[in-house]
Amino acid sequence: MTRNPQLNRHGELQHLLTIDGLPRNILERILDTAAPFTEVAEREVKKLPLLRGKSVFNLFFENSTRTRTTFEIAAKRLSADVINLNIATSSASKGESLLDTVDNLCAMQADMFIVRHASSGAPYLIAQHLAAQKREHIHVINAGDGRHAHPTQGLLDMYTIRHYKGAFNNLSVAIVGDILHSRVARSQIHALTTLGVPDVRVVGPKTLLPADVQRMGVHVFHNMRAGIKDVDVVMMLRLQNERMQGSLLPSGQEFFKFYGLTEEKLALARPDAIVLHPGPMNRGIEIDSAVADGSQAVILPQVTFGIAVRMAVMSMLAAT
Ligand code: CP
Repeated sequence: MTRNPQLNRHGELQHLLTIDGLPRNILERILDTAAPFTEVAEREVKKLPLLRGKSVFNLFFENSTRTRTTFEIAAKRLSADVINLNIATSSASKGESLLDTVDNLCAMQADMFIVRHASSGAPYLIAQHLAAQKREHIHVINAGDGRHAHPTQGLLDMYTIRHYKGAFNNLSVAIVGDILHSRVARSQIHALTTLGVPDVRVVGPKTLLPADVQRMGVHVFHNMRAGIKDVDVVMMLRLQNERMQGSLLPSGQEFFKFYGLTEEKLALARPDAIVLHPGPMNRGIEIDSAVADGSQAVILPQVTFGIAVRMAVMSMLAAT
């Protein structure tokens, strides 16, 4: 049997590349580890020494507001030295390869790489390269690769759901929108099914759903009203136009009519349903402002919990 490349020989998390294939106990340990970290933000001195002396490199080859910033805050709260490589002004723009960049940062005694890249598999490539060089002490965290995975987003979404709903084993959860191009949706589906959510639904037009999505253990809906009826959690996704090839939709207005979350559609979910969105939101395309700013939205708490979840992941990796 081949070993999960994210786990070391003791079954501990060495890298975080995807939620796919991670055992439930590891997901639960990350969520449990994150819980006390939420309190660090309430302190006068928001610091813990768990990554003191470690160098964390943020390598964002794609744009980001939430992920890059919350990783930086999380690493600083753990007392790491954080280096944000500005890709636009780095030597990547002169043709330096990804692995040559990594080798040079290793020569600067990097301890951890946080990697976002438009190419699916780029963080895997780095982890494999480090293993081939016997640099197992350097950890890689996938901060979003192509349409493949965004594991810390999936984990912070699970933390948010557990915070508001208490448990996973009695929930109906609908993920709505552009599932086809969404690394977030894949990570959410793997996390929800691994954590024992009995009813995971994906809702969207045929053109924005992967052909074999049922194999992931989800129920497929093309009608949004049916798809969000009586659910406990609605997870909205934006249209990822930057990853679309050709026109898969008539227009944003048309999409909003059928798949935009309005107060009227949200009323079909359970009265205590919560609404998540990973951001960035496109108001008036996948979500109405009245919902995004309404009492059922937990979109900004997601961002705050993201700091604690990223602290948990980094501290667990650094401890292996
Ligand atoms: N959710 C998310 O990945 O947001 P950013 O692109 O701003 O990091």
